[in-house]
Amino acid sequence: MKRVAILISGGGSNMLALVRSMTGDHPARPVLVASNDPAATGLARAAAEGIATAAVDHRPFKGDRAAFEAALLEPILAAQPDILCLAGFMRVLTPGFVQRFEGRMLNIHPSLLPKYPGLHTHRRALEAGDTEAGCTVHGVTAVLDNGPILGQARVPVIPGDTADTLAARVLVEEHKLYPACLRQFAGAGR
Ligand code: GRF
Repeated sequence: MKRVAILISGGGSNMLALVRSMTGDHPARPVLVASNDPAATGLARAAAEGIATAAVDHRPFKGDRAAFEAALLEPILAAQPDILCLAGFMRVLTPGFVQRFEGRMLNIHPSLLPKYPGLHTHRRALEAGDTEAGCTVHGVTAVLDNGPILGQARVPVIPGDTADTLAARVLVEEHKLYPACLRQFAGAGR
């Protein structure tokens, strides 16, 4: 049974989808939900699901990413995860952190990578006049929003869409794609 730690920064809707998918004959179980924001509402949602939680506020570290990550690593390593899932985690991780988990760290990004790495993906797709958008689950490497693609889901862009209406349509697909990719990834390693 693979042990999965999930990193969040906010509401954790993707975290919740992942947690609720890991039941029955699923080859993985959630062991920790951690956040860089102690006020992340996803922490309470994780606790309500019976999952252990941890929070390390990144702000006191004032941009000393390595020091923040060293603090965040403590509860993560204590949970002894086999797989790390970034789910709405909004801090850029240093190559040092990534190297520890490379090959077993996944992320979901709200665009059809390689298009629109980084932020404000839906606004950029609309400004480009794209007729479709979507999300990508990929392996995390030292290059932001890069790495091997495990799966993608596409949605149509509808005339009149705003970044919010498009984000809501994509989020529905994220909640299906990420659990499917995690199940395949956790089962592959046997
Ligand atoms: C989602 O758009 C996800 O693609 C991105 O963060 C947003 C919020 O995710 N990574 P969640 O609701 O906190 O899971």
